[in-house]
Amino acid sequence: MKKMLSSLLSIVILLGLVLAVGASEPAQGGMEIVLYLGNPMMTVNGVEEEIDPGRGTVPVLQDGRTLVPVRAIVEAMGGTVTWEESTQTATLTYADNEIRLTLGMYTAYLNDVAHTLDVAPVSINDRTMLPIRFVAEGFQFDVSWEEAQQCITITKAAEPQETPSATPVPEEQPDESDTAALVVYFSATGNTRALAEKVAEAAAADLAEIVPEEPYTSEDLNYNVADSRANQELDADARPAIEPMAENPEAYDVILLGYPIWFGECPPPVRTFLEEYALSGKTIMPFCTSGSTGISGSLALIRELCPQSTVTEGFRGTASTTNAQIEAWLTENDFSMAGRADAEEPSGITLQIGETVFTATLAENSSAEALRDLLAQGPLTIEMSDYGNFEKVGSLGTSLPRNDEEITTEPGDLILYQGNSFVIYYDTNTWNFTRLGKIQDVTQEELREVLGSGDVTVTLSLA
Ligand SMILES: Cc1cc2nc3c(=O)[nH]c(=O)nc-3n(C[C@H](O)[C@H](O)[C@H](O)COP(=O)(O)O)c2cc1C
Repeated sequence: MKKMLSSLLSIVILLGLVLAVGASEPAQGGMEIVLYLGNPMMTVNGVEEEIDPGRGTVPVLQDGRTLVPVRAIVEAMGGTVTWEESTQTATLTYADNEIRLTLGMYTAYLNDVAHTLDVAPVSINDRTMLPIRFVAEGFQFDVSWEEAQQCITITKAAEPQETPSATPVPEEQPDESDTAALVVYFSATGNTRALAEKVAEAAAADLAEIVPEEPYTSEDLNYNVADSRANQELDADARPAIEPMAENPEAYDVILLGYPIWFGECPPPVRTFLEEYALSGKTIMPFCTSGSTGISGSLALIRELCPQSTVTEGFRGTASTTNAQIEAWLTENDFSMAGRADAEEPSGITLQIGETVFTATLAENSSAEALRDLLAQGPLTIEMSDYGNFEKVGSLGTSLPRNDEEITTEPGDLILYQGNSFVIYYDTNTWNFTRLGKIQDVTQEELREVLGSGDVTVTLSLA
């Protein structure tokens, strides 16, 4: 079983890049670069172009790793790449960050700090193959791999616009209520670390890492080798020693526990953590990253090791997990946002229709969260028109998660229809759709008058 898992996993886990030279300006806006195994084309922000013009270079699988040519990627990112033949070293720069990698060397440098790669750069067809996750994440891009479509997606969120302000922003004061939850995570190759940072932000929780006294090398992690450290520890049900933690988990009520799935379970250093610290009476909320395995199979062991703790349902995330998805998991498992930084987020929206501005509260579901995230990027203007005799409907221009249920509408209800249509109800109708919110203190007559008959423009903003 372990062997079968190993060979399957070796196909899905690790990525690399081919390197060449390119230069342009770092992009200010968001970016998405999508590549497919065996396909010489990629899309950059939806526009198709050749990955390595004139050479037909394609992302390939080699020794279970996906190797991706990087010339166009680095240029699209706005970075530069130089190659020093004498030392066989590539230097990649993007914004203020610099990465140095040397052919055949497992040590790479990000801003002069040494990091251990899980695959050493190699040269294929005059192209230097580099590990994509290290490079992209070093430049603060996200990387995700979709096994079903054999697709690599590299993304960067748009940089927020700076608004000049004459008033100095007061420093945030520490709040006692913010310290009740701690994200504790173990990460051998960085995936879980990236997710843990997002979870800590979404939950307004502190962050602490489980650091094994003896770090895992890439050889240690090679589950294809029968006597690798990972396999030996699994067979021995080992508890490898861990460093004292930066934060004291025993001072927290809720532990959000992040780990990579190893052989379907939480890795041995996590087991050491669960046994070494007194977690009785606490709530443990597990989350993971993995090649493809879900988290549910790893929960029984955590419950066995912490019989006096409440272990909630788990959450499997990836580099592209959104804040709304994390918050949906948190709220579904009764994680209280009360008193946390996120609770200070605007809880409502405004709808401007002509000269009239209505205020609406948002529903408590992942759809409304996603709408809030969308509006956090700026106001959204929707062209709406009559549909039945009950409502105005317009396209959001994007899809939000659906939480459909049978609803009998009232005047002022804001509804998500089929995931991508925004609906303002001024009359009563019963249907299966998703509640997004409700305009406060409005009558059917007022709404009908402001919305008028025919097409109308509505601008949504965070309140
Ligand atoms: C020893 C070992 C065993 C693994 N076992 C599994 C597994 O059973 N199922 C799976 O989907 N991924 C498995 N993986 C892949 C990791 O879960 C995945 O790459 C994870 O995102 C790594 O997280 P990290 O970068 O935080 O260490 C395994 C990886 C290693 C090193």
